[in-house]
Amino acid sequence: MSILLVTGGAGFIGANFVHHVLASTDDTVIVLDKLTYAGNRASLADCPANRYEFVQGDICDRELVDQLVARADTVVHFAAESHNDNSLLDPEPFVTTNVLGTFALLEAVRKHDKRYHHVSTDEVYGDLALDDPGRFCETTTYAPSSPYSATKAASDHLVRAWARSFGVRATISNCSNNYGPRQHVEKFIPRQITNIIDGVRPKLYGRGHNVRDWIHVDDHNSAVLRILQAGRLGETYLIGADSEQDNRSVVEMLLTLMDQPADAYDLVPDRPGHDLRYAIDATKLRTELGWRPSYVDLEAGLAATIDWYRANEAWWRPQKAAAEARYAAQGK
Ligand code: NAD
Ligand code: TYD
Repeated sequence: MSILLVTGGAGFIGANFVHHVLASTDDTVIVLDKLTYAGNRASLADCPANRYEFVQGDICDRELVDQLVARADTVVHFAAESHNDNSLLDPEPFVTTNVLGTFALLEAVRKHDKRYHHVSTDEVYGDLALDDPGRFCETTTYAPSSPYSATKAASDHLVRAWARSFGVRATISNCSNNYGPRQHVEKFIPRQITNIIDGVRPKLYGRGHNVRDWIHVDDHNSAVLRILQAGRLGETYLIGADSEQDNRSVVEMLLTLMDQPADAYDLVPDRPGHDLRYAIDATKLRTELGWRPSYVDLEAGLAATIDWYRANEAWWRPQKAAAEARYAAQGK
């Protein structure tokens, strides 16, 4: 049994990770989360009090981070400002949380010699052409496009430097776009599902031809756990489930699954600098660590996600009006 410090554990992927760990291991979890607009205590309801503790605080708070890292065996770092559109409106919290927050955690794990896993994104690699036969792999050159991806890239570089120069026992994972329960309604898939529930037409940026490589959040988290158990220190692992789709196809699937005409969506102004395509080659994770995704059918995963949002309106309803107001102000 060990003690995991999970940063950002009230966010989408972090909360699902906490449930996954509590269900599949005998580990104890301490969550450190600032509860920004993206954090939701309700996502951690029902966690057993004898194996779970919640601390509201900022990863940039060096003293608090030092105290919590000292108590843990392992740090799993999810906390971040995570939405590209927000990073275009106000990059500052992205630089602060994603770069300086990671720095604070690295200094604490260095001091206390704790195992550290860094959760990152494939967006650090920039984008691919639609017809590029290649996919991102661990040796792809970093070329981030947005303030979000640039700050995640910066944090990855800090981790590598702390591992190499100071011997910090670290691993990094770069995962593709996640979907599943407990994702904030500002993100693409839950935004469209909750719009359709509300009788509002889904909104596609540009012409809807941008491609994302979708993975269910539980598959992302099973990969993170596998890396924690068996990953080689100092290594990076890409996580993806071979599920590329253009945005238009995803919206058409959602509309069809929700008994609406497949073309009942609106095209809205494109995101500036919008990355065209992401695609992950997860061969290293599959061959070296034997990881496999459980969700291999995107349509089935989306159907389960629609069911979750239908059954959990009380979870997402309080976020919805503010998220849509932010989009409306941008004509989206
Ligand atoms: P999210 O926005 O849903 O959750 C982020 C959480 O971090 C929130 O609970 C928020 O309150 C917390 N937080 C933010 N700033 C903080 C601070 N300064 N101190 C403490 N807590 C703070 O994000 P997510 O989608 O769950 O992403 C989690 C991680 O996974 C991020 O590092 C992100 O870059 C990475 N990632 C996400 C995706 C994706 O598709 N969502 C894909 C690959 C990687
Ligand atoms: P998003 O969930 O913001 O993730 P990311 O920017 O990290 O890929 O968006 C996923 C894709 O969906 C991206 O190509 C932008 C697009 N998108 C829309 O077409 N409409 C929307 O309302 C949103 C939020 C995103």
